[in-house]
Amino acid sequence: MAVNMESSLGPLRLRHPVINASGTFDVLAADRVLAADLFTDFPFAAYVPKTVTLKPREGNPPHRLYETAAGLLNSIGLANKGIEAFIADDLPRLGRLPVPLIASIAAEETNGYGRCAGLLDGRDEVAALELNISCPNVELDGKALGCDPFLTASATAQARAATGKFLIVKLTPNVTDILVLARAAVEAGADCLSVINTVHGMALDPWTLRPALGHVTGGLSGPAIKPVALRAVYLISRELDVPVIGMGGVTSANDVLEFLAAGATAVAVGTACFRDPLLAVSLVQELEHQMELRDIATPGELVGRAH
Ligand SMILES: Cc1cc2nc3c(=O)[nH]c(=O)nc-3n(C[C@H](O)[C@H](O)[C@H](O)COP(=O)(O)O)c2cc1C
Repeated sequence: MAVNMESSLGPLRLRHPVINASGTFDVLAADRVLAADLFTDFPFAAYVPKTVTLKPREGNPPHRLYETAAGLLNSIGLANKGIEAFIADDLPRLGRLPVPLIASIAAEETNGYGRCAGLLDGRDEVAALELNISCPNVELDGKALGCDPFLTASATAQARAATGKFLIVKLTPNVTDILVLARAAVEAGADCLSVINTVHGMALDPWTLRPALGHVTGGLSGPAIKPVALRAVYLISRELDVPVIGMGGVTSANDVLEFLAAGATAVAVGTACFRDPLLAVSLVQELEHQMELRDIATPGELVGRAH
């Protein structure tokens, strides 16, 4: 049976349903070190760069990464060059990628989301915007505004007012009821939800028994969080009528099948890219093979099968 891997995410046409997760694949750096020509043959069906903020951010003190039994703890702290340098230096080059570009933005105050969205609204290189609402927020004493439904709605509404582009809101799992936050984002104008960002965690250095990360706590990603992510995708896609991008611990074609069945329309690979930046190539081939074996003609046929 012939499989057609094409997928769509709102107005975005994707060659297949696998994209990258923000902050885990730097195409401009990878293009310098990998033998592959990423600007001709890009492994993902869309590209999401690392989150940028209005002002440059230094990020957190080292150590910023710590490997755990089944995952990775990070406390990068959204280190980035700021949106103006992103627009001037990176955007023209990222615009040459053969796939849709989803710019990821964050701000330390809710109105910063509107300003960032407004700065990117007129840029043809950008197909969609993703709001990372896990940034430390001044209105919430440094906690992520994504933990608060009112601030989530306010940031989303301000971005919505500033752009007509496809608007994705990326949810944090570090809340009591993720559905409340999902509803707040959709009611405020989100077209799509990314589910999930990292899970709060910490690790101690086994010898000094002091915190392993310079920032003490961090965000857990990788296979350890897959069940948390699958549950969130399942609950949200069952209740809300917007496409969901599923992510959290994807390392294999089977993981992609599960996220699609749980209700995701597209699936992102994050931490697994650190071990193999070109993993998506073999993963998509295996996904196609698995679909053939199961007589599934399109990824769309799988979406929500678990419901
Ligand atoms: C080192 C690192 C940096 C990350 N940076 C960002 C970021 O800048 N913006 C964002 O929205 N998510 C960021 N994330 C979260 C990922 O995009 C993803 O939501 C999360 O890691 C779960 O997917 P995974 O288990 O496949 O990594 C980062 C994750 C890691 C491990």
